[in-house]
Amino acid sequence: MNILLLNGPNLNLLGEREPGIYGKTTLAELERMVTARAKELGHDVRAFQSNHEGALIDELHQQRRWAGGVIFNPGAYTHTSYALRDAIAATGLRVVEVHLSDIAKREAWRRVSVIEEVCAHRIVGKGAAGYLEALEWLVR
Ligand code: DQA
Repeated sequence: MNILLLNGPNLNLLGEREPGIYGKTTLAELERMVTARAKELGHDVRAFQSNHEGALIDELHQQRRWAGGVIFNPGAYTHTSYALRDAIAATGLRVVEVHLSDIAKREAWRRVSVIEEVCAHRIVGKGAAGYLEALEWLVR
């Protein structure tokens, strides 16, 4: 299966960004980890990160025929972006929503995900390991 690993705003700073909340794993390490595990299981990964909503939407559009599944951490766009929600619905992509932190136990505004209802599955609060769990879930 082809898997799109998509990370949204501020996740390029993983490793140095609030490590007490998001952990010490960098984005490059995380992408390598998911790609290596996928390869072991016989799958291909394309990793993409952007701080821009439109770029994330463009990537979903561009990979909609290539990708059999998407591992997606939309960062703060999770809570605000109806455009990303619509992009997931429009492409029909099978998306696993992933959050490093447990957004259900943080500020009230983080508890709302506007993309949740168009995602196939959701993993929160498991740090970098959550991405591997998402991969296993998609290819199972
Ligand atoms: C996050 C949680 C979001 O609320 C936050 O804006 C992020 C990261 C997480 O992985 O825990 O950027 O998606």
